Amino acid sequence: MGRLDGLAAIVTGAAGGIGSAIAARFRAEGARVVGLDAKRADGLDGFVACDVADGAAVDAAVAEAVALLGSRLDIVVTAAALTGGRAAFPDVSDDEWQRYIDVNLSGSFYACRAAARAMISGGRGGSIITIGSINALAAEAGALAYVASKGGVGMLTKAMAVDLARHRIRANMIAPGPVTVPRNRELFETPGFRRGFAATIPMGAAAEAEDVANAAVYLAEPGSAMVTGTTLVVDGGMLARVPTFGGDD
Ligand SMILES: NC(=O)c1ccc[n+]([C@@H]2O[C@H](COP(=O)([O-])OP(=O)(O)OC[C@H]3O[C@@H](n4cnc5c(N)ncnc54)[C@H](O)[C@@H]3O)[C@@H](O)[C@H]2O)c1
Repeated sequence: MGRLDGLAAIVTGAAGGIGSAIAARFRAEGARVVGLDAKRADGLDGFVACDVADGAAVDAAVAEAVALLGSRLDIVVTAAALTGGRAAFPDVSDDEWQRYIDVNLSGSFYACRAAARAMISGGRGGSIITIGSINALAAEAGALAYVASKGGVGMLTKAMAVDLARHRIRANMIAPGPVTVPRNRELFETPGFRRGFAATIPMGAAAEAEDVANAAVYLAEPGSAMVTGTTLVVDGGMLARVPTFGGDD
């Protein structure tokens, strides 16, 4: 028996590294999964092409996805996001700021709103899982627009949890630290990055997308019924440790 048997899920960013791992893991646990992404995602129970920054397009895409799922929706995961392409403050252009807010923050809002409406009309509760970042909790140099967008996702998630609890809909954020995915694998496997991860991550290495997928299964399954409004950090202990000063010399 799978941990998500009989449940229906939408995963945005399903063509990406983390989204595709979550979608595959959900299916392995017995869920039916429809992916939403600007890029095609294969091997799922359905796919709808969609720009998550366009609210009307997201409403239509979620309606199509729910139809593909047999008029049922129990879980939504928002993994679609812009990463990379960064400038340090104050050299952040209007365009860069707006694009990160539109895709990462508004994109999460639109997908969660459309999904929540479908869950409410289904009357069976549900689980909303946003993919934030440790950058929702601590800033990284030269990434202001990304950091601000992810901070917004954190409070979006808590506010949804508060408003949706009466419908038995939960909302939680996963905050990954560095995760090795196809787009960054070459970089993350260089000796310099490996040394950096060993020095800054107590567990000694970046996470794999499957580590994030494991966390998502927990937040999606009925066993986490009282877990809402929280952040599940998947960072190998990175945020838990302050630098140690002094030493042997
Ligand atoms: N990989 C990491 O180290 C890491 C760390 C922390 C947080 N995250 C977060 O995890 C999530 C997934 O990241 P990833 O590493 O898998 O990246 P990725 O680039 O592999 O996946 C992102 C997906 O989002 C889609 N997307 C981007 N803009 C879109 C839009 N406007 N409309 C629809 N789809 C769009 C892309 O097509 C892609 O498939 C993101 O929210 C990212 O911020 C990743």
